[in-house]
Amino acid sequence: MQQPLAHVDEWDDFVATRYRQDKLEEEFRNYKEDANPTVTEFYRQNHAHQTLDFVLAKEAEYGALTRGKKSIWEMADYLNTLVDDSDPDTDLTQIEHLLQTSEAIRRDGNPRWFVLAGFVHDLGKVLCLYGEPQWAVVGDTFPVGCAYSDQIVFPEFFEANPDSKVRDYQTEYGIYEPHCGLDKVHLSWGHDEYIYRATRDYLPEPAQYMLRYHSFYAAHRHGAYRRLMNAHDEEMFEWVRKFNPYDLYSKGRERPNWKEIKPYYEDLVAEFFPAEMAW
Ligand SMILES: [Fe+2]
Ligand SMILES: [Fe+2]
Repeated sequence: MQQPLAHVDEWDDFVATRYRQDKLEEEFRNYKEDANPTVTEFYRQNHAHQTLDFVLAKEAEYGALTRGKKSIWEMADYLNTLVDDSDPDTDLTQIEHLLQTSEAIRRDGNPRWFVLAGFVHDLGKVLCLYGEPQWAVVGDTFPVGCAYSDQIVFPEFFEANPDSKVRDYQTEYGIYEPHCGLDKVHLSWGHDEYIYRATRDYLPEPAQYMLRYHSFYAAHRHGAYRRLMNAHDEEMFEWVRKFNPYDLYSKGRERPNWKEIKPYYEDLVAEFFPAEMAW
């Protein structure tokens, strides 16, 4: 199965089920019951192929943002071409997930940059449209180049990762120094890092953290990898944790009335982003 998921949002749905709000702490550990065979196969591929070398190559390929200049709106329209052909009944587009997230943030009276972070947080999924395999676009992110935490889902699948046989990558700190700070740590490649890179010059730091680490569940949900975090990361992760419920639990709420909210978002995007930016 080359692309096991019918749509990359199947991964998001699995994560939302895994952290369902009425679930008890010990039920989290039974996540395998919530994973269908395609989600399981997706993690098998993700854990087998996300090596340090792969991540460094993708950081070099996309990190310098040399794929041309586009506005946020062009990018959102582009992402919307990523449709879910498995389910013709739900025409809930990518932009609607973004708007449901950002509208929930706005409803709670949060600052404008926070609303904006919600609105752009998954734009990095355009990596799919660039031809990246699903396992290099979505999935819980994790550090490469050091020992894998058992707080990552399906840790047994790391057995198939070539890095698991490299002794220098499997010590507690691996290629990193204690509390070196997450900025020095290479996380598995995906849509988080890409949207962070594209927007970091324009957003305040808490928003940058929200975008960059929103899929780093082992850290923001389970407290793993604190040995690599510095005091500043710890402080900023409060924001990452504040963001997460809006991402997970705003799905399926009433559909945003685009006509009504459009002027607000046009102002918001223009306030922070230039007309065109590098991607
Ligand atoms: Fe995401
Ligand atoms: Fe999301």
